Amino acid sequence: MLRIAVLVSGGGTNLQAIIDGINDGKIRNTKIVGVISNNLGAYALNRAADALIPSCVVSRKNFENRELFEEALLGAVDAVEPDLVVLAGFLVKIPDIMIEKYQGRIINIHPSLIPSFCGVGAYGLHVHEMALARGVKVTGATVHFVDGGMDTGPIIAQKAVMVEPGDTPEVLQRRVMEQAEWVLLPMVIDAIAGGRVVLKDGKAVITEE
Ligand code: GRF
Repeated sequence: MLRIAVLVSGGGTNLQAIIDGINDGKIRNTKIVGVISNNLGAYALNRAADALIPSCVVSRKNFENRELFEEALLGAVDAVEPDLVVLAGFLVKIPDIMIEKYQGRIINIHPSLIPSFCGVGAYGLHVHEMALARGVKVTGATVHFVDGGMDTGPIIAQKAVMVEPGDTPEVLQRRVMEQAEWVLLPMVIDAIAGGRVVLKDGKAVITEE
């Protein structure tokens, strides 16, 4: 059974996709052992409570300095003893101490086709504003392993989504969520649970069933 900790900051629609994927069998042999948020007001925490999943909040403003916050964040993850850490709309840069301890066991969902529209400042709606400003005809989402950089770890899976004429950032965000994020993340977690994601020469590959 793959034990996953899901880290969230906002609405939790990706968390919901994981919860639903486990309940409907799309994600096999997996258990969410904890939800951790940096934001007390995150609706993702309501989704965790509704699904009877233990959750906790580690908010930067409750700590004197960043180091104490990062130690508390790592402590909250350690406490649930996950095999895999899933960043699902988590807007805090993962501290080096956590990268080292969970090397190769942290994944993130990003709402673009990396390496486009990623890195510092490219999160949430901003990503879709950037895509529309550039005039791309195709965007999408990426699931990747997390390394010490920002959206720079080995890419595990991607899914393309068409940009339609007249799209607003909000409309495009919703389409990318529905058609890509909520499909990709459950698929990758199921593949990891099944031992079907391998790293070879720094590249991630999903092997067939
Ligand atoms: C979404 O834009 C998602 O692409 C990104 O974080 C935002 C919020 O996601 N990863 P969620 O609804 O909190 O899962």
